[in-house]
Amino acid sequence: MLEARVYLTRPIPDAGIEMLREQISDFHMNEEDRVLSREELKQAVKGCDGILSLLTDKMDAEVMDAAGPQLKVIANYAVGFDNIDLQAATERGVLVTNTPGVLTDATADFAWALLMATARRIPESERYARAGKYKAWGPKLFLGGDFVGRTLGIIGAGRIGSAMAKRATGWNMRILYTDVQPNPNIEKEVGAQFVDMDTLLKESDYISIHVPLTPETHHLIDEAALRKMKPTAYLVNTSRGPVIDEAALARALKEKVIAGAGLDVFEEEPKIHPDLLELENVVITPHIASATHETRNKMATMAATNLIEALRGNRPPNLVNVDVWKD
Ligand code: DGY
Repeated sequence: MLEARVYLTRPIPDAGIEMLREQISDFHMNEEDRVLSREELKQAVKGCDGILSLLTDKMDAEVMDAAGPQLKVIANYAVGFDNIDLQAATERGVLVTNTPGVLTDATADFAWALLMATARRIPESERYARAGKYKAWGPKLFLGGDFVGRTLGIIGAGRIGSAMAKRATGWNMRILYTDVQPNPNIEKEVGAQFVDMDTLLKESDYISIHVPLTPETHHLIDEAALRKMKPTAYLVNTSRGPVIDEAALARALKEKVIAGAGLDVFEEEPKIHPDLLELENVVITPHIASATHETRNKMATMAATNLIEALRGNRPPNLVNVDVWKD
């Protein structure tokens, strides 16, 4: 048993909770399935050596200081860690970990599902059928886009972007990608072509976003970017909402600057821009790209392992702020 105080900010799958209960002497958690208010969070983490946080928890200097100087690790239950002030953690010698790899396939599968649902207008046509509007088969009823032989643009060719590209080979698609630097693996494995952002925007029939949220990627897709896309193009985002300027996207969708969008993430989650909610050519899901039983279980045990290893004094397997680690 590890002599440590640990707080879990919201229930995660049981496998992760059991590990913490069995191995941590002073384990506490928010038993309710809801996001804690800021004051509740600051109060709850007081005196903790480790915190297992979710992407819905803003882990900034104030929260770290509320925990106290003994805080050693923040283990995030997500691959993205834009909810954590990394600099503040590093300055305080706090290790930050994430859950990479285990959610790659589930997220890439979902990005495809969202793209298909958007381009083949599945939710829109389902609403129509349920509303009793389907009176007869029609040659022009809910026309959408083809995939075979078309061009897929991947923004961000990391693990998930590459997995998305790999799936596109099933449709014999031309694959373009852009990133801060070329990724030889995606070129070798699926014949993807490295291009600049403008070329990707102009030539792609479908665009899928897979970048982390950083100051550089904030509003990467803005009004100007949207206007470079084809009017027949579809855009999907399963990364982080603020990568797209949501107001600009809503305008572009309304004015048919692009054909449609599939969004799993939003600028100010859980809020969704009201104009988007009014539109038929956007498919909206509540940040569920990694939500499969297997994946969420793996994320739980991975986050718990990261936390436990850090508290044991070992380098956690998925350390993000590597500068804090001194061998
Ligand atoms: C992540 O892990 O960053 C996803 O957004 C949720 O699984």
